[in-house]
Amino acid sequence: MQAQVKAGMTTAELDDIGGRYLIKNGARSAPYLTYGFPGATCISLNNEAAHGIPGERVIRRGDLVNIDVSAELEGYFADASTTVLIPPVELLKQKLCDCTRTARRKAIASARAGQPLNIIGKTIEATARQCGYQVIRDLPGHGVGRRLHENPTVPGFYLRTANQRLTEGLVITVEPFLSTRASHVVESGNGWTLETADGSLAAQYEHTIVITRNHPLVITAL
Ligand code: CO
Ligand code: CO
Repeated sequence: MQAQVKAGMTTAELDDIGGRYLIKNGARSAPYLTYGFPGATCISLNNEAAHGIPGERVIRRGDLVNIDVSAELEGYFADASTTVLIPPVELLKQKLCDCTRTARRKAIASARAGQPLNIIGKTIEATARQCGYQVIRDLPGHGVGRRLHENPTVPGFYLRTANQRLTEGLVITVEPFLSTRASHVVESGNGWTLETADGSLAAQYEHTIVITRNHPLVITAL
C-alpha cells in the first residue's frame, strides 16, 4: 500500500490493495474481524488521526495519508502503520512525520524487560516536545497477540501510575500519534473516524514488538 499510494486514487482503491494481499496470504483484517470495521484497513487523511473509513474519497496532491493495517493469521494478531506524504510535500508535514517516526524508534529502543511500561510514553512525549508537537493523549498503544487489543494499555504520554514492569515475551504496540496542535481527538460523525477538532495535522507510526532483555523484536518491520 505504501509503495502504490498516489494522488488520484480513492481510499477504497488503496484499501483494496491491502485487502487482497491479506486474502492472498490467508490472513484476515483485524478491525473487520474484531469490530466489523467497514474496510480491510484504516486510511486516515490529514487531520484524521485514526480509523478513517476507505471509500470514494480521492487522495490529493500534498495529502498526509495514514495507513494502519492490523491482521490475524492462524489465531495471532499484529498491528502496524505508516504515514505517507503525497508530493508535493510541505515542510511542516515532513517534519511532523519525521518527528513521529523518531518518537516510535526511540520509544521502541527504550522498551526492555525490567523497565516500567511508562518509559514508552515518557520517551514519546519528550520527543514530541523537542519537535514542538503534541502527543494525542487519547490514542494509546496496547497489548496484542491472541486478540487485536489486549492488556496492557500503553499510554503515548508519561502516565506516572502506568509503572508496571515490562516482562520478557510481552507483545505490545508502540504507536505514537503526534499532532501539530491538538492533544485530543473527536469522533468525526461517521461512527468510526477520530480527528483533531481544530483541523491540525496528525501523524502516526506503529509497530508490534516483543519485549526482551535487550532491544525488542520488531515483528512488523519490513
Ligand atoms: Co494499534
Ligand atoms: Co494500528
